[in-house]
This record gives sequence, C-alpha cells and structure tokens, in this order.
Amino acid sequence: MQNVRIQDLSHHDGEVVRLRGWLYNSRGKGKLLFLLLRDGSGICQCVTLKANVSEEDFLAAKGLTQESSMEVVGTVKLDERAPGGAELQVQSLHVHQVAEPFPIRKKEHGPGFLMDHRHLWLRSKRQMALLRVRHRVISSFREYLDQQGFFCVDSPIFTPNACEGTSTLFETDYFDGKAYLTQSGQLYGEASAMALGKIYVFGPTFRAEKSKTRRHLTEFWMLEPEIAFADLTEVCDLAEGMLRYTIEQILERNQQDLADLDRDPEVLKGWNRDFPRLKYDDAAAMLMKWQADGSYESDFKPGDDLGAPDETMLGEHYGCPVMVTHWPHEVKAFYMKRDEEDPSKALGVDIIAPTAGEIVGGAVREESYEVLKARIEEHELPLEAFQWYLDLRRYGTVPHGGFGLGLERTVSWLTGVEHVRECIPFPRTLQRIYP
Ligand code: 4AD
Ligand code: MG
Repeated sequence: MQNVRIQDLSHHDGEVVRLRGWLYNSRGKGKLLFLLLRDGSGICQCVTLKANVSEEDFLAAKGLTQESSMEVVGTVKLDERAPGGAELQVQSLHVHQVAEPFPIRKKEHGPGFLMDHRHLWLRSKRQMALLRVRHRVISSFREYLDQQGFFCVDSPIFTPNACEGTSTLFETDYFDGKAYLTQSGQLYGEASAMALGKIYVFGPTFRAEKSKTRRHLTEFWMLEPEIAFADLTEVCDLAEGMLRYTIEQILERNQQDLADLDRDPEVLKGWNRDFPRLKYDDAAAMLMKWQADGSYESDFKPGDDLGAPDETMLGEHYGCPVMVTHWPHEVKAFYMKRDEEDPSKALGVDIIAPTAGEIVGGAVREESYEVLKARIEEHELPLEAFQWYLDLRRYGTVPHGGFGLGLERTVSWLTGVEHVRECIPFPRTLQRIYP
C-alpha cells in the first residue's frame, strides 16, 4: 500500500492509497461521514460510507474527535469541487489515538490564550499556511543566492562583542567570563566574504528589545549576504532581486496557502516591480511635507531615525517596498562607510515594506583600518574585542557591503499577517518564553 501525502493526491486518481494524519474536522450523520484529514501538506475530504467499510471501522470513524491521529486507506477521486481538488473514498481506517478535547476550537480565542497554546495552535489552517510560506521564503532566498554563486557560511551565536549597539545585548555567563548572544552575523560574514568573495549567513539573532511592538522579537532569524568588491547599488540590486524571486516563488507554489491566509495574490504581483530608491534627505522632506499638510502625525524631524509611523507613511505612499539610502551617520552603526560626496551621510540602505516597516538594513562597510579604528573608539566599543575585525582591514582590505534581512518581518509583509509573533513557530518576546 502506497503512503501518499495530500499535496500529491491529484497524481493518484483512481488508485488505492494510504493517508496518514490528524482529524481536522468532520461532519455527516447516519450512513455517511465526511472526515477532513490534514497531514501538514494539505487537507483532504475522506468520504466514509457505512456500506464501504467494516462495522468496526465505521464506529471508530464516528467516535473520532478533533486532532485524533489515524491512517486511512481508500480510493483517490479527482473532484474539482473538493478542497485540494481530490477526495478519498474510504475503505478502511486505523486510529492511532482518539484525542482528548482539543483546547483550540472553531470559536474565537484571545491572542494570550493562543500564544499559551502555541504548540497546538500551529495545527490550525492559517498557522500551517504561515509556516509553509515561511519555509518557501527561506528556500527561495537560498535558491536565489545559490544561483548567484553565494556560499552559505555559519556564524557563531556566542560572541565577544556587540555588532548593533550595546543597548540590546543579551549577556550570558561563559565559564569564567561573559559572552553575548549574537545581534547579527555580519562581522563574521565580512571575514568569510574576504575568504570566499560572496557569502551569506543565516541564523537566529538576539536583541534584548524592551519594546512591545508588533514588529519586535527578542529572537529572530536574519539572512545576511556579504559581497566583496560591492558598492551600494550592488547591495540594493541583490536585495531587490532576491525579494522579487521570492514573491514569484510564493505566487507559483503557495497558492493554497495564500488562500488560507485570505491573501489576494494580486497584492504580491503588484510588488514584483522595480523598488523605488530614494535618499534619506528626500524621504525626510516628504515626511515633513506630509506632517505639515496633516497627512499623518509624527515627532520625526530631519536627522532622526525613522519611527514606525514614518515607515508606515512611506510604505503606504509607494505601495511597494522602498529603499532609503544615504542616512545621517549618527543614526547608523559604527561600521558603515561614509559618503565621499557628503561625509555627514553613511552609505546605508533600509528597505521599508508596506505594513511591515523596515525589513532590510544594509550598508557599504568602512574598509580603512585607521578610520574604522577611530569609529570603534568614538562609539566607545572595546577595541580588544574588535582586533580580529580590524585585522580584515590589514590583510587585503577591499570595498564591500551587504545587508541583513529580518525573516519574520518579511513573512509578515508578504502574508499580511500583522504581528511578527505569528511569523515564527515559537516566538520570544519581552513577555514570552513559553512554550
Ligand atoms: O537593521 P539591522 O539592525 O541590521 C543589522 O543587524 C546589520 N548588521 C545587518 C547586515 O548588514 N548584515 O537588522 C536587520 C533586520 C532589520 O531590518 C529587521 O528586519 C530585522 O533585522 N530586525 C528585527 N526583526 C524582528 N525583531 C527585532 N527585534 C528586529 N531587529 C531587527
Ligand atoms: Mg536597521
């Protein structure tokens, strides 16, 4: 007997196969039962006719509760009206367990309750769809970078120094000393790029964010390509190319998931275009104008970092991801190279996406030993811990750059799911470390 996954059912029309999964829902009475079975790849309607199965099996089918685990054998029948395009005409079933009453029902539950039951909530239609889109985003990034000749290089999680400012560092005991959980793999990415030319780091990153916004996690996944000999344009082109490839892949391969998320594919199609690129000064001028004419409210003034309302405003105005470049160096990290034409500006780029805000932060890196050393001192960072990083500027330094893309914010943007806590299987936030 062939075990088949629901996503592949349509290739098995007329065959007798076995499905293995959990009861999502059931209905029917008398001599006919419709069992909705889910196996993680989809949901299939298993039509159980009393006349077609043993008495014992029919009784068992009637006693199944939500999330009961089982294996079902039956004949595949293509049917356009069936969810997923095929149904199973059941011949026999084997129950692994009749589940206890499942805590998550069709009725509305509050976010606190759902988050406390995250380990079970993952089985709901929308959460499964989100997990599958998240998977597609990751695999698309990897595919794209692989096609472009990038090598994946892993960076450590225990680190001796800060990368993105000292205010959000998680400190931990490390035998007789201290270590920090990584905020970004970038510095190690730079070292690796000097070895392999084009690399990316992809892993969990940690920030002791005290903020409770819908865009902040304390543990999130970041994808960080780094390219030797690149300038800002090349960095922007890579980010845009990768995101557009990802949109195409989702549109092609996650149609059912988009439907489960009530996400109109047309919205995603509309973003598969050249992303507008503008300098910070121009963005700031637009924001000031919108504040003056009452289009939105914000404390923002030129020179400031963008806040959530400013990002929202820009995202709404363009209706697609926009790239903001040439930032006041004061609001950006120590490692960013300054613009030769205007040294008050850092050669950084943020990509602001509609509703999700900043999904990417990138830059050209300072490549001069003297300048970088001075920057580390200016930022009052411990020189000792950065010796190895400075070495990169002593042994064959080259212009280079890269970016960090926040995975959960990107998934939130693409799916239209507001809160990043739903875009990672088990979120970690200021208030939550369970389950
Ligand atoms: O802009 P950030 O801080 O950039 C860096 O860490 C660079 N070292 C990356 C690099 O150039 N290799 O963070 C990059 C992205 C942000 O744009 C955002 O999408 C995400 O990481 N991010 C967060 N996502 C969820 N929760 C948080 N607390 C986040 N902080 C940053
Ligand atoms: Mg940033």
